[in-house]
Amino acid sequence: MTERLTIAIQKSGRLSKESLALLNACGVKFSINEARLIAHSTSHPIDLLRVRDDDIPGLVMDGVVDLGLVGENVLEEVRLEREAVGDAADYKNLRALDFGGCRLSIAVPRETPFNKLSDLNGKRIASTYPYLLQRYLKENGVAAKNVNLTGSVEVAPRAGLADAVCDLVSTGATLEANGLEEKEVIFRSTAQLIQCNDTLSADKQAMIDQLLPRIDGVQLAKE
Ligand code: PRP
Ligand code: ZN
Ligand code: MG
Repeated sequence: MTERLTIAIQKSGRLSKESLALLNACGVKFSINEARLIAHSTSHPIDLLRVRDDDIPGLVMDGVVDLGLVGENVLEEVRLEREAVGDAADYKNLRALDFGGCRLSIAVPRETPFNKLSDLNGKRIASTYPYLLQRYLKENGVAAKNVNLTGSVEVAPRAGLADAVCDLVSTGATLEANGLEEKEVIFRSTAQLIQCNDTLSADKQAMIDQLLPRIDGVQLAKE
């Protein structure tokens, strides 16, 4: 019996629809039951795990799933965090994908004067990306304090929890709606297809080798 290849994708969020659409365009069909974590392909021995995007890099790095579709922002943040605590953080980057484009930026309230990055010295910056933020500040010789949140970063300045934010920006609507102005892009990201670093069974590897040229074909056709 062929072993089933497992792929983790974001359950609900900016990458979900396009991740499924990409697999579909490659001929890998699924019928999704919203209430279920796992979905079995109806066309291939492939299982989808629908999880929070933040969990995808770790699942791949721990070898719990074979492949993952995840934003480079989340991937790099988790890699830095795992390296810092000594957890396995290796993976293979198979493809950069053409969707899920966004940037991680520092933004300040409209009325805050801001001329240069060093204006943030001694300030508090709210983010869900503490490692990417600190790496950037360190590279630029700025000493600011992280305010670590797991969500609702954009309301932190108004709530008096922080002086600035470091958050994902796609259309800019969230910043705009919260009276924040983007000042500095610290990381640019698109979705990535990653594979766990363990040697997979011949069956699984053959499936991946078949999938990759299809992905390339789908991406080329969109250009
Ligand atoms: C990001 C970010 C903002 C929003 C920005 O959250 O935290 O809330 O998107 O997008 P906009 O510029 O188009 O308004 P996202 O839903 O991607 O991620 P999360 O739920 O994992 O925090
Ligand atoms: Zn997330
Ligand atoms: Mg958000």
